[in-house]
Amino acid sequence: MVFDRRPDDMVRITTTELANQFIADQVAALREQVKDKKVLLALSGGVDSSVVAALLIKAIGQQLVCVHVNHGLLRKGEPEQVIEVFRNQMNANLIYVDATDRFLDKLKDVTDPETKRKIIGGEFIEVFAEEARKLDGIEFLAQGTIWPDILESEHGIKAHHNAGGLPEDMKFELVEPVKILFKDEVRVVGKALGLPDNMVFRQPFPGPGLGVRCPGAITRDRLEAVRESDAILREEFAKNGLEGKVWQYFTVVPDFKSTGVKDGKRSFEWSVIIRAVNTSDAMTAEVENIPFALMQHLVKRITSEVKGVNRVLYDFTPKPTGTIEFE
Ligand code: XMP
Repeated sequence: MVFDRRPDDMVRITTTELANQFIADQVAALREQVKDKKVLLALSGGVDSSVVAALLIKAIGQQLVCVHVNHGLLRKGEPEQVIEVFRNQMNANLIYVDATDRFLDKLKDVTDPETKRKIIGGEFIEVFAEEARKLDGIEFLAQGTIWPDILESEHGIKAHHNAGGLPEDMKFELVEPVKILFKDEVRVVGKALGLPDNMVFRQPFPGPGLGVRCPGAITRDRLEAVRESDAILREEFAKNGLEGKVWQYFTVVPDFKSTGVKDGKRSFEWSVIIRAVNTSDAMTAEVENIPFALMQHLVKRITSEVKGVNRVLYDFTPKPTGTIEFE
């Protein structure tokens, strides 16, 4: 059975067995809806769009066209993983667009956080629409809408963030195969579809990506420092058993330099701030108590491996008063 809304008595999908049943039902429903037509999907590599892609690949194979836009603000290894998993392993029809220069040029000298978000969101839609226009015969647009998105938009909490934003003349019928699922169910379904754990159980990552972790105007050197320090933090959290335990953890490189000493010489370089928080709904958050020895190890690795960084700080601020992201 396939539903348009989540039935009140729907059993929570917690097991592979329940996930397989959901997958079988959805595959049949997708084939019925799409028939021999083509479906377009913006594949970010996040949990929801990845699960939608895997479901559609199972249902309609090459009739799905995935577009992965790299806005230059993704974490280290993410675009490569999208290509490896979807193009190489699942044989998906994947268009990869490296739009890094385009985004960074538009963001040059822009300091206001909301303006940065608007530029990133707007440019994303433009790049995606440009790719869509190059394709013939697309009739459907797939989206990773989930049940909380629908509830929140019905209750006026937030605009339904997935609902298009594409130019007026681009009209597609929507395909939303995970729209009655809660996030934890999407993960169980993703695992049953064979997606890797680090894709299915990944921590939340904001749409504007590392752009909001480079406060003020984004520069390429600070962006690189954010990306490299974030990769070290993720690697160390995984090694030390904190990966599945801490809700969200990342680094920020603010736009000030401070004096330090490196190789016996004065250095004037950036600082990396580490943030690691736990929460259930992201409305409030508590700071993780990172073991001091791990902290010292992180400081050592970041200051010696990340170019242009001479200082590491830890953010002890819960939410409130600090938000989880810095801007
Ligand atoms: P804040 O910083 O408001 O973050 O405490 C709460 C949660 O939302 C994420 N976040 C975003 N997600 N687009 C997103 O898709 C955004 O612009 C955005 N800003 C914050 C943040 O990472 C945290 O999980």
